[in-house]
Amino acid sequence: MIELSSLVKTYPASGQRGGRPGRRGARRDDAAAPGEPEAQEELRARQDRTAGARARRGAPQGVGEVRALDDVSISVPAGDVVGVVGPSGSGKSTLARCVNLLERPTSGRVVVDGEDLTAMGPAGLRAARRRIGMVFQHFDLLGSRTALGNVALPLELAGVDRRERERRAAELLDRVGLAEKAGARPSQLSGGQQQRVAIARALAARPSVLLCDEATSALDPASTAGVLALVRELRDELGLTVVVVTHEMDVVRSACDSAVLLERGRVVDEGRLSEVADRPGSPLASRLLPPPPPAPLREGSALLQLVVTGGTEEPVLSALVREHGLDVAVVGGRVEHLGGRRSGHLQLEVLGGAAERAPRLRAATAALRERGVLVESAP
Ligand SMILES: Nc1ncnc2c1ncn2[C@@H]1O[C@H](COP(=O)(O)OP(=O)(O)OP(=O)(O)O)[C@@H](O)[C@H]1O
Ligand SMILES: [Mg+2]
Repeated sequence: MIELSSLVKTYPASGQRGGRPGRRGARRDDAAAPGEPEAQEELRARQDRTAGARARRGAPQGVGEVRALDDVSISVPAGDVVGVVGPSGSGKSTLARCVNLLERPTSGRVVVDGEDLTAMGPAGLRAARRRIGMVFQHFDLLGSRTALGNVALPLELAGVDRRERERRAAELLDRVGLAEKAGARPSQLSGGQQQRVAIARALAARPSVLLCDEATSALDPASTAGVLALVRELRDELGLTVVVVTHEMDVVRSACDSAVLLERGRVVDEGRLSEVADRPGSPLASRLLPPPPPAPLREGSALLQLVVTGGTEEPVLSALVREHGLDVAVVGGRVEHLGGRRSGHLQLEVLGGAAERAPRLRAATAALRERGVLVESAP
């Protein structure tokens, strides 16, 4: 369970680095050993300077400060996979890094599994961070180590003896489907395989929370699907709470239970995916279920546009035909599986002469609305 309350994170506007632990000038009590989240972050930051420069465009700028997060409160139930989406620079990565306090929020509270991380001293925080795994876009594996050696690294740093850490690392590699690659170096692995190794490494300390910042953004669609399926399986098996930061709506559609939309550091919409379709036109719905463009119709026909939600699982088409005597053809639409439900838009062309059709269509749309079917537009 993750509870963020009234988080504000500001940076100096000039672009000078604003107190990221693990960076140049970091406080030593917070400093990281290689392989720990802070060190992974340092590596990621080095490889990701361009993305950082791109990100620095979006946030609101006060005098002398950038407000990367502006009064953000969200609650993620244990075992949920939440997607954090929004334009570049909207604060997604900052939000993820505030969950394990890689970024210390300027104000607000971060509570993970009932523990207030913002109130902890350095030793407590180090222990709490071990229960929060993190994976990034660029995997950040050590090139000089084998896959097994990379997964074993956090255990080595935690002082686990060699035999035990190798046993556990082998078990984790097996779990992510890479048992036979234990001896391979990162350069001998595909992107998807490297990300699986990074996930195994993030799980080495048995975390309860997994943070994924654009973890599939460098992968092809097949590897993306594989990594997302793995994340969901791990959630099911280990009860992980997962935060998925992404700019890809497909990632949210296929992997998440809920989503949070950030814009300029603020939460502008949030909700469970299974309920998004019930709010057509809301900011999240229009991103997750964009309405199809109006379909061309035959002369004299009328367009009936329905939102497919749980209610539409009723036999809608047969009701229109049998109960209301309408002649319909499907001319467009897009239906997705969102949060375990069918959701989307369906465009029907209603044929026949206007005089005869109009009263039937009126009666039909009223009946559909009564059954809980959302009618977006009808003539
Ligand atoms: N170290 C930093 N120093 C100063 N400003 C920063 C720093 N990191 C982030 N910011 C600011 O915070 C805002 C949010 O950045 P963040 O990296 O969280 O965006 P993002 O939503 O992850 O973007 P992207 O999709 O491009 O990764 C940026 O617009 C930037 O101005
Ligand atoms: Mg980012």
